[in-house]
Amino acid sequence: MSMSGLDGGSVVVTGAGSGIGKATALLFAREGARVLIADLNSEGAKAVAEEIRATGGTAVTVVGDLSEQTVADEVVATAVESFGSLDVLVNNAGIMDRMAATADVTDADWERQLRVNLTAPFLLTRAALPHMLAAGKGAIVNTASAGGIRGAAAGTAYTVAKHGIVGLTRSTAIMYRDKGIRTNAVAPGGTATAIVVDADPAGHGPAVVGGYMGNIGRIAQPEEQAAAIVFLASDAASNINGVILPVDNGWSA
Ligand code: NAI
Repeated sequence: MSMSGLDGGSVVVTGAGSGIGKATALLFAREGARVLIADLNSEGAKAVAEEIRATGGTAVTVVGDLSEQTVADEVVATAVESFGSLDVLVNNAGIMDRMAATADVTDADWERQLRVNLTAPFLLTRAALPHMLAAGKGAIVNTASAGGIRGAAAGTAYTVAKHGIVGLTRSTAIMYRDKGIRTNAVAPGGTATAIVVDADPAGHGPAVVGGYMGNIGRIAQPEEQAAAIVFLASDAASNINGVILPVDNGWSA
């Protein structure tokens, strides 16, 4: 029996087909939670669900583009239908391509970055809140970024979207704190996932991240981000609300 309060809980993790979301879904499952894996990548989502089931856990998948309201609604409805409630929403899915300096950001890149990295978490949060309000409890954890708390040469649209996540987190935290719902975020520094490797097919991910973040120190493993996300969702963080928790080896210190 775990002290996290997550045993038997109903958890949605977006972007759980890969990287930080995958590590987070696996850790929630180890805590005894039932996990809905939402991702655009059907193969990744299925593989993570199978990994959870192979250890006796419960997992379902929803495959689709979370920046569409119909998909966001389907994620929330499927969690409630499959598990009977929605206790935890982790808005983690994100894209880091289309990174351009301010003068070079195209309209299409701006719209897509904001749509996936900011609007999708809002759509999911809006869809999840009525269920959490009805239950009188819930936890939302958003994956922001080091680029969400400081400016970075990381692509203007990405940085703007992640700063938006910080605002979404803080305002939602204040608005629902008397209703038993906590909203927090992690702000990862450079982390060894596909998003970083894909940005540099030559395999110099940490060097690429360092190029726009300055000296990042040691690059994080996805499991280190997952540990912080699961902590913020757990009863161990019962009085923590509206926090943006850097997990960046001191980059933002
Ligand atoms: P990743 O690329 O391994 O995982 C992202 C997942 O999100 C992928 O499985 C992808 O298919 C999914 N996804 C992307 N767009 C989607 C959409 N429209 N609908 C549904 N699923 C979608 O990358 P990583 O690193 O695990 O990223 C997770 C989060 O962490 C992102 O929000 C990212 O911005 C954030 N982050 C990552 C950092 C890093 O250095 N890896 C640093 C700071 C923040």
